[in-house]
Amino acid sequence: MAAGLHHTELPSRFVWGVSTSSYQIEGAAYEDGRGPSIWDTYCRRSGRIANGDTGDVACDHYHRYAEDIGLMRQLGIGAYRFSVAWPRVMPAGRGATKEAGLAFYDHLIDALLSAGIEPWLCLYHWDLPQALDDLGGWTNRDCVQWFADYATLIGRRYGDRVKRYATFNEPSVFTLFGYGLGQQAPGIADQTKFLRAVHHVNLAHGVAVDRLRASVAGASVGAIHNCQPCRAAAQSPEHALAAQKLDAYWNGAFPDPQLIGRYPDLLADAMTPHLRPGDLAQICRPVDWFGLNHYSPHYVTASTANPLGIGFGAAPAGVPRSVMGWPVEPDAFREALTGIHQRYRLPIYVLENGTAAHDAIDANGEVPDQPRIDYLQAYTGAMFEAIGAGADIRGYFVWSLLDNFEWSSGYSQRFGLVYVDYPTQRRIPKASFRWYARLIAAQRRKNAASWS
Ligand code: FCB
Repeated sequence: MAAGLHHTELPSRFVWGVSTSSYQIEGAAYEDGRGPSIWDTYCRRSGRIANGDTGDVACDHYHRYAEDIGLMRQLGIGAYRFSVAWPRVMPAGRGATKEAGLAFYDHLIDALLSAGIEPWLCLYHWDLPQALDDLGGWTNRDCVQWFADYATLIGRRYGDRVKRYATFNEPSVFTLFGYGLGQQAPGIADQTKFLRAVHHVNLAHGVAVDRLRASVAGASVGAIHNCQPCRAAAQSPEHALAAQKLDAYWNGAFPDPQLIGRYPDLLADAMTPHLRPGDLAQICRPVDWFGLNHYSPHYVTASTANPLGIGFGAAPAGVPRSVMGWPVEPDAFREALTGIHQRYRLPIYVLENGTAAHDAIDANGEVPDQPRIDYLQAYTGAMFEAIGAGADIRGYFVWSLLDNFEWSSGYSQRFGLVYVDYPTQRRIPKASFRWYARLIAAQRRKNAASWS
């Protein structure tokens, strides 16, 4: 049994799951009339993605979803979080819809439900239709309306079977890297465009919450935020200020207006030119839960390399790091969980947590990924402590089911519980897959016992 489990009483309906996203796993980038997304375009910009990788084929999940749901059944998960590729169902992002794309998600959802797995649908995991980017994308206020219409399409189509909806995955990450620092699609580094994108994404969230409630009876709606404690990399007033600034962008720029109705103090003046009367009320719509993604804390430096004045520094010597270079510090996870609980007072679902590791198939055909097991054991342990301290945490989803296209790292980083042999698309459950299945089964037995 996993260490720590027997010490903790989890809520009886605690949900264990896994998460994925459309561009990272689906492939079939040119099939059935799917339109291009900003990631298709960005991947073709030379030098942007490790090894020149693209999501063209990825895990070929578009064709292999039934096999992948079989793996989910073996894991014993209660829920699966995926995202819909906007350009697959509306190739130009607005106007005409594509029946084949819509039907793919019908099949996926129906197969999940027959397997007893609850679908959690995320509207936006970064693959904006290219046609909308050509019109300015998130820097254009019209994008709010385009997203609202897309949300209505999705709610009407799947709302009879899907009740859990997330509007956005990690808005702080895709706006900062995509529009502020130019390190992800669409590759823009412009302070004004960045702030406009932040505000429009917030508005799109609020409008989509209303649209989902109007189109789905009994909808349970939230957004998914990446929250990472921001620590100064070294002691100096400049670094401390940079850490506060990154904290305002990364941890505050979306949850605060969405849940408290205002931008963080450090950002408020910069946001003012982009606000119109009534915007904050439209952004701050009631939601049902807080979706949290967490991997590690940030160590922040002051920097002149970008207009934001922020640099990503190294963790102090002695702090273990994953192969991504991300610090492994479960205490920061506990800190994030308790901080979010105290600030927003919403049920929390951990919708991403996990790690990359040096995975390889051994002579017995197995993938013995002990570093991932150690990571998951330590991080779930920190979560149990946060629950013990009173945080209202209702679920935990591992990132990710499968190795997949890891954005700028391409296929060079593996986050899956299942190893994907890309040349053959063969799936090989890793040791961590069995570890997670045991944890879920043990928890289920415990709950059954406590109810008998
Ligand atoms: C998160 C993303 C997810 C994945 C993990 C490793 O920031 O939401 O798509 O890439 O990191």
